[in-house]
Amino acid sequence: MLDRLSPQPPDALLAVMTAFANDHSPDKVDLGVGVYKDAAGVTPVMAAVKAAEARLIAEQGSKSYVGPAGNRLFATLVEQLTLGSDHPALREGRVATLQTPGGCGALRLIADLIVKTGVTTDLLIGDPTWTNHHPLLTSAGLTAHRFAYYDTVTAQLQFDRMVAALEAAPEGGVVLLQGACHNPTGADLSLAQWSAVADVLERRGLVPLVDQAYQGLGNGLDADAAALRMLAARLPEVLIAVSCSKNFGLYRERVGAIIVVARTPAQALTTFGTLQMLARRMYSMPPDHGAAIVATLGADPALLGIWRAELDGMRVRVNTLRTLLAAALASEYGDRRFDHIATQRGMFSILGVLGLDAVARLARDAHVYTAPDGRINLAGLPEAAAGRVAAAIRRVAP
Ligand code: LMR
Repeated sequence: MLDRLSPQPPDALLAVMTAFANDHSPDKVDLGVGVYKDAAGVTPVMAAVKAAEARLIAEQGSKSYVGPAGNRLFATLVEQLTLGSDHPALREGRVATLQTPGGCGALRLIADLIVKTGVTTDLLIGDPTWTNHHPLLTSAGLTAHRFAYYDTVTAQLQFDRMVAALEAAPEGGVVLLQGACHNPTGADLSLAQWSAVADVLERRGLVPLVDQAYQGLGNGLDADAAALRMLAARLPEVLIAVSCSKNFGLYRERVGAIIVVARTPAQALTTFGTLQMLARRMYSMPPDHGAAIVATLGADPALLGIWRAELDGMRVRVNTLRTLLAAALASEYGDRRFDHIATQRGMFSILGVLGLDAVARLARDAHVYTAPDGRINLAGLPEAAAGRVAAAIRRVAP
């Protein structure tokens, strides 16, 4: 049986992590995989998370099963952080929330849910997008239809083309949208553009699937959820995949959630049961530890305050690094072609000037690692290296 398998190439983004780890230059800079780093180049365990974890370990009396839906306290907290505590869909009891193994687990289970409905397998995905979106969602049986989202050469959103694609989408199809801090471009829609998107979705009966992986890292916790909250208020059905990897720094603990806004409370309940059945068939139950940390943290207003302040600090630091690199590139190139880096949001921007060859030379000659598509993670930039990184980029992309 196993002789029928063929060797698989390593995941291109994860291979950058390995290449960086194997580079022993003291000058190496990791702008590759999307993890937050502090000024010391460390992806820290947040202080509020550490405190909640210590409390959890001291007080947890059992490690018995939590069930396919996961930790209910966690689910309530995530609902409130994502939708806001007074969202009409919550008040009306039209929301089903299930803990999942990370944001990836949420996306995959949502894909299974869509297929299970039997209504559609059509999924519209903007181009470019996070490299794992296509494999993760299409392997569940969805058919991806790409639409232009952002031009990496001109650094412009392709909003008109996006709207035209939505207008032409298959009836009842699902549209993958990123709530904030777009991966890999850093280019988010304005609220007016979101509202125009909602108009088309509403009119055409399309269902948004919102990937919300970076809440709090763009313009703040509430600002980064504004678009999603508006969609959930206007549209009858909204599918949301939440990740706690970045904003709680819980990457390896695999903490995420599915939030489904349904048309009626009865449909929310049926969806909740269906998601539990699908989870039971796939991995049975989500891992407990990370979600229990979030639940412990969220139940204590003091810890919640510390976490919010830490997250604010991360956001401000990333935005400062954006300004720093944009200025370094402006002085290196003598023009403003990289100004968008300063105004985009979240950890990523994509440098259209970096083709595959330039990405390879940047790593080999300057020890600066980016994602294969030319995406840079601003959080990985040491302040002192901004000038050197800008010069190295210019050398490979004059
Ligand atoms: C990224 O985009 O770098 C992160 O989301 C890590 C991953 O799993 O790809």
